[in-house]
Amino acid sequence: MMKSRKGIILAGGNGTRLAPLTNAISKQLMPIYDKPMIYYPICTLMLAGIKEINLVVSYDYLDFFRKLLGDGSKWGIKIFYTKQFAPNGLTEGIILSEEFLDCAPAALILGDNLFHGSSLMKHLNSGNSRINGATIFAYRVKDPQNYGVIDFDNEGKVLSIQEKPKLPKTNYAATGLYFYDKNVVEKAKSVKISQNGELEITSLNQIYLEENALNVELMGRGMAWLDTGTHDSLHKASSFIRTLEDRQGLKVSCPEEIAWRKKWINDDQLRELAKPLMKSGYGNYLLNLIKNQSIDNLFI
Ligand code: TTP
Repeated sequence: MMKSRKGIILAGGNGTRLAPLTNAISKQLMPIYDKPMIYYPICTLMLAGIKEINLVVSYDYLDFFRKLLGDGSKWGIKIFYTKQFAPNGLTEGIILSEEFLDCAPAALILGDNLFHGSSLMKHLNSGNSRINGATIFAYRVKDPQNYGVIDFDNEGKVLSIQEKPKLPKTNYAATGLYFYDKNVVEKAKSVKISQNGELEITSLNQIYLEENALNVELMGRGMAWLDTGTHDSLHKASSFIRTLEDRQGLKVSCPEEIAWRKKWINDDQLRELAKPLMKSGYGNYLLNLIKNQSIDNLFI
């Protein structure tokens, strides 16, 4: 029987571009407006229906993540933790997750990436439904030289993918969300250390490309893909979430809400989760979900 897909969140790294904010705290524990950054990638995986998640974290922050998230049972999911001792690259995060994956297909997401938009579910479903090969997502950015850059032909077939090229062939960056088949660990182990001294995710994707097994989907302009690795991008992401939430009165990437809508937790469990959050308004939001469910369910 096919194993269900498992999630990996890469939440290690040094966050050097955010110093001194990151001198004493992990980047992925810092706020994006009203919730810790790590909630956003967790929610993306939850929306994909993934209930087992491995968090790859820097060794000195593991206890902080555990304090925040526990074993995930409060949200009806299972969260596991693996320490990474140095930021040796994203592909190392996959190799470190070998035991956790246990030959299941994987969805990998970067701990500082935020996805939002009405076509997100469509993209998640299509990545999820491919059993063989890998799926990555291309997104137009104005500064492609800072990312893995994807070049494709008129039919959307990938021609190349290059890590932070000085002269990018297109404006299309590979986002921090990747779906891989069950062979990913074996392939990850064959990746060679790059000139930057890292096991790059682009090298892994190139292996899939060489085997004609790399699928690319375009995330269109109606989608938001934000990363939050610099002071400016962190601030912009917070403003974006604040603007949306303030306008609609709905939270973006609220794990309690997603767990409840998916019926992974019931009304009583949601009420319990709301109790310690009453003073920040977050608790009231959760209680109102129960109150307003008949009308909201028509639209969400
Ligand atoms: P980066 O933004 O490339 O690295 P970083 O977070 O250390 O930040 P900086 O460049 O400012 O030093 O990492 C992207 C995401 O992947 C981020 O969530 C951290 C995570 N990561 C790991 O978990 N392990 C790693 O080895 C690397 C390189 C990154």
